[in-house]
Amino acid sequence: LVVVIDFGAQYAQLIARRVREARVYSEILPHTASVAEIAARRPKAIILSGGPQSVYADGAPQVDPDLFGLGLPAFGICYGFQAMARALGGDVAKTGISEFGRTQATVATGGTLLAGLPGSLDVWMSHGDSVAASPAGFTALASTAGAPIAAFENVDAGLAGVQWHPEVLHSQAGQQVLERFLYDIAGCRPDWTAANIVDDSVAVIREQVGDAHVICGLSGGVDSAVAAALVQKAVGSQLTCVFVDHGLLRQGEAEQVERDFVATTGVALKVVDATEQFLGALAGVTDPETKRKIIGREFIRSFERAAREIVGESGAVDWLVQGTLYPDVVESGGGEGAANIKSHHNVGGLPDDLQFGLVEPLRTLFKDEVRAVGEQLGLPAAMVWRQPFPGPGLAIRIIGEVTRDRLEILREADAIARAELTAAGLDRDIWQFPVVLLADVRSVGVQGDGRTYGHPIVLRPVTSEDAMTADWGRLPYDLLERISTRITNQVREVNRVVVDITSKPPGTIEWE
Ligand code: XMP
Repeated sequence: LVVVIDFGAQYAQLIARRVREARVYSEILPHTASVAEIAARRPKAIILSGGPQSVYADGAPQVDPDLFGLGLPAFGICYGFQAMARALGGDVAKTGISEFGRTQATVATGGTLLAGLPGSLDVWMSHGDSVAASPAGFTALASTAGAPIAAFENVDAGLAGVQWHPEVLHSQAGQQVLERFLYDIAGCRPDWTAANIVDDSVAVIREQVGDAHVICGLSGGVDSAVAAALVQKAVGSQLTCVFVDHGLLRQGEAEQVERDFVATTGVALKVVDATEQFLGALAGVTDPETKRKIIGREFIRSFERAAREIVGESGAVDWLVQGTLYPDVVESGGGEGAANIKSHHNVGGLPDDLQFGLVEPLRTLFKDEVRAVGEQLGLPAAMVWRQPFPGPGLAIRIIGEVTRDRLEILREADAIARAELTAAGLDRDIWQFPVVLLADVRSVGVQGDGRTYGHPIVLRPVTSEDAMTADWGRLPYDLLERISTRITNQVREVNRVVVDITSKPPGTIEWE
C-alpha cells in the first residue's frame, strides 16, 4: 500500500490512479489524518500531493515532521514537495515568478529519480512559491526558470520530490518518474494486478458473508455485473441476482444480462419482467423529474417484491451487494476525505423490515480497474466496456411521453448509431453517445415520392473524464453521414437526424 496524502488539490485521485497503473495499490487519506492513523495503515511509502495554497499561507496544511520520523519512503509533489522541504529544514521562498502550465525543466543530474531522462523536460507546473535550498542530505536534480530547485532526492533516506505534476499526461516522462520513486527508491513491487485483485476480493467476501445468503441487483451496467461476478466466484450458490427489466434498456441489453452474463458466471438469476408496470406508471407523463421519481419508485417496489420472494425461499438473506466505487468513497477534491457514499435508490428505499448488510466488493477500485477485473472474470466485452447509461434508461431520452412504440423507434435508431460508432472503432474515444427521440416534434420531409411528417433523432456524442463537464464529440463526417442515412432509411417515423454540438455546461449530457 502507498498512501497518497491529499492536500486538497484535485490531483490526489489522479496520483492514486497513476500509482495503481504502476501496479502498486494506493489509497488516499486527507491531510488531516494523524501520523498514527497513517502509520496504522502500514504503508510501504507515502506520497504528498499538490495543494492549492502557499506553505506560508495562514491555515495552510502542514506536514507533521513526525511523519518523516516513521522512516517511510516519501515522495512530494508540488505543494507536497515544498511541504517536505520545509519540514526537513530546507528553504521555501517566494520567488515572485509563478509558473502555470507547460514549463521547461533542466535536469542537472539524473540521480535515481530522473535517471536516463533527457537534459530538458517538458513538465506541467502550477506554483507560486518554490524551494530555494534543499534540506541537508538531499541532492538537487533539476531547475526551472521559476524554481531554483525543481526536483530533489535523498535516496538513502528514501525521500524525493518534484515541483511539477508527474501525474498529469502533459508532463513528459511523468509515469516513469513516479515509477522510479516507487520501484527504485521506495522498493515497491508491481503486484497489483487484476488477477490479484480478484483473489483478494474473493477472500474478503468469503470472510465477510460466511455462509449467509446474498442478493445483488443487476442493472445491465458494468459495476453491478462485476460486483455480482466477484461475489459469485466467492460464495457461488449463496448468491441470488435480481434483474428488474423495466423495459427501458437498449436493444440487446436485457438479453446480455439474462443470457450472456448467466452463461459466463453461472449466477442464479431472478428476472422480474416489469415492463407493463413501468409503462403503465409512466403513461401520460412528460416532465423529466416526474419520470425519474416514478421509475425510482417502481424500481424499489419491484426489487422489494423480488427480495421478499427470495427471502421467503431461502429462509434469510443477510447481505446486499452494492457496486460502490472508490471515487464515491473518497470525497473528490479531497478536503476532509469524508466517506461520501452513493445513496442508491435500491438500497435507501427498501423498507425497514428488509434489512441487509452491504457487500461492496468494488469499494477500493477505480472504474478502469473494475473493467480489468470484469475482463479477468471473462464477462462479455459488451458489458465490460459499456459506456455509462442512466438508470432511468431510454425514458429520459424520449422527449415527451414514453410509449411502447416510441421506445421501439428509439431502440432501432440507437442500435444503428451504436453499431456504426463501434464499426468506426471509436467506442473508447467517446464517453457517452445518447441518442434522443424528439417525440413531440415533427418536421416535414420527403421520402420516395411522398411527403413525410416525422420525428427528429438527436445524436449526442460527448467526450468527458467524469461526466461533470463534457465537450461534444467531433465524430467524423462520413460516420455521421452513415448513421443519418441508415436511421432515416430504416427507422419508421424518423425523417431527420441532427447532431447536438453543445458542451456541458451549459448543456447537460442527457436531454432530460
Ligand atoms: P447529465 O445529463 O446531468 O448527466 O449531464 C451526467 C451523467 O449522469 C447520467 N445520468 C443519470 N444516471 N440516473 C442515473 O443513474 C439518472 O437519473 C441520470 N441522469 C443522468 C448521464 O447519463 C451522465 O452519464
